[in-house]
Amino acid sequence: MCGIIGYCGPKQAVEVLVEGLKRLEYRGYDSAGIAVGFKNEVTVIKKKGKIKDLRQVIPDGIKGNYGIGHTRWATHGSVNDINAHPHSGCAGKIVIAHNGIIENYTGLKEILEKEGHVFKSETDSEVIAHLIEKYYTDDLEKAVKEALSILKGTYGIVCINPDEPDRIIGARNGSPLVLGVGDGEMFLASDVTAIISHTKQVVYLEDGEVVSIRPDGFKTTDLNENRIEKDVEYISWELEEIEKNGFSHFMEKEILEQPEAIKRAISGRVITDVASAHLGGLDLTTKELLNIERVKIIGAGTSYHAGMVGAYLLESIARIPCVPEIASELRYRNPIIERNTLYFAISQSGETADTLYAMRELQRKGATVLGVCNVVGSTIARESDGGVYIHSGPEIAVASTKAFSSQITVFYLFALLLSRMRDMSYEQGIDYIDNLRSIPAKMDEIFRKRNEIKKLAEKYAHYKDMLFLGKGINYPVAMEGALKLKEISYIHAEGYTSAEIKHGPIALINEETPSVFLVPDGGLKEKVISNMKEVKAREGKIIAITVEGDDSVGEIADDVFMIPKINEIFYPFLLVVPLQLFSYYCALELGRDVDQPRNLAKSVTVE
Ligand code: F6R
Repeated sequence: MCGIIGYCGPKQAVEVLVEGLKRLEYRGYDSAGIAVGFKNEVTVIKKKGKIKDLRQVIPDGIKGNYGIGHTRWATHGSVNDINAHPHSGCAGKIVIAHNGIIENYTGLKEILEKEGHVFKSETDSEVIAHLIEKYYTDDLEKAVKEALSILKGTYGIVCINPDEPDRIIGARNGSPLVLGVGDGEMFLASDVTAIISHTKQVVYLEDGEVVSIRPDGFKTTDLNENRIEKDVEYISWELEEIEKNGFSHFMEKEILEQPEAIKRAISGRVITDVASAHLGGLDLTTKELLNIERVKIIGAGTSYHAGMVGAYLLESIARIPCVPEIASELRYRNPIIERNTLYFAISQSGETADTLYAMRELQRKGATVLGVCNVVGSTIARESDGGVYIHSGPEIAVASTKAFSSQITVFYLFALLLSRMRDMSYEQGIDYIDNLRSIPAKMDEIFRKRNEIKKLAEKYAHYKDMLFLGKGINYPVAMEGALKLKEISYIHAEGYTSAEIKHGPIALINEETPSVFLVPDGGLKEKVISNMKEVKAREGKIIAITVEGDDSVGEIADDVFMIPKINEIFYPFLLVVPLQLFSYYCALELGRDVDQPRNLAKSVTVE
């Protein structure tokens, strides 16, 4: 969703801001803008569309050593140049960029208009600029704090005033803001990808904190003027991880990075001697682990699907009742917190509002919530009661791929840990670890045959609807396959457990609605084959994903793709890869914007 960048230092701010905005593109946006300060003047340039469109309207040779920039994902007001950020007060001096939603903006706008302020945009954000302008006398930081103290809602903001050149005020409440500490230069950004090419030293701001930056330093306080000492942290991500490095798309790169991502998620967490796992960040004693009577996993989208796999696994092998739940629903059904229940909040970005607010609601009621996040220092990672990083490396494509595999890896490790404290024998534990460790190489085998999937995509990309069908632990994978396809190719797709189609969806089946069946070997295979036959009997075309050497499925399916054999509980890892590749190639075939599909944002920071 919206992105923020701010810079003050010796460089030309335009270059730093535009580069930062380019790096924030992946978050999803519909317009962008910058404000560049030079001595006591500020120039604001905004444009609907992509950063390249903004680039074209930035005059050559525009000078200035401090400024702010923004990518907007519209919430209040249509997508146009005027609604794009930054926004200014009436005098054009106070300029702000804002992420989040101001809930009391209508009332404030009415008051400010009565006082003579003239608004230009339809946004909620513009009210912030006018409010700061109202309170400004000679200290921007003071005026920002006064304004923030009456705002209701969420914000990450940056603000400049050319009457105080080379200074930026930043503040956060519910929308992330990170400070980049350079050598004689300072940055502010909504996420580290925007500044990682300049500095790896960062300070994560907490809600309620305000920072004042100048090229030579920064000062952090709260809204009541209390000084807050912050630690400077070091980002371990490398610049090349957020670049395409020769791949056509981030999505392709990230799909192919999965073997390495899984190895990183496992690394240092398997204890072969005792055939168990160690997840230090959970911060739970053996006794506390043994006392767990139930597990609940909350997440959204792909993370929810990973949580479904985790729930199935924990219940089936660790024998602990476990349910996944869509985070956005949990908060509003007044959940009952049961004793000895462990909650997981699972989120790649660690910033998804639905998951974050659900987590806070659970914590407010006394639950222990552990985070499973990718982005280090993200809000869920910091506010959870412990947790595990998945160490996927930055995921830039809007459609999540490698995060899914790494998230489920963490649940496979957690299930091993709990199972080995209960029913699983040492020998079974070793076998489990061997299976887990064999996954990266088996994924590589699939990648070597990816041309077969490309051909399937070329054959099926022009259908309007598709069903994805699996059973047991592979049912969430079917849902994930359908989600991937609709997200990036815009083909309508739905994922079901295969038996469920008889209860309605089978009405859709005809020669125009193909089905992708997940039919690995294992206890449920014959059941899935029966469902395939039901589809075949109604002239539905079938793509089956099955296991190498198994010819039985080929007699029913129109097309077959074969994956390597593995113990049946590990198939989600190997089944998801062909589905990710299938959607990627379908999107390519249809000429879609693979990495930044329409209407979608990488990190969904509003409810
Ligand atoms: C799908 C996708 C989304 C996210 C969802 C949650 O490809 O990317 O469905 O999975 O918005 O995001 P996180 O995991 O960041 O909480």
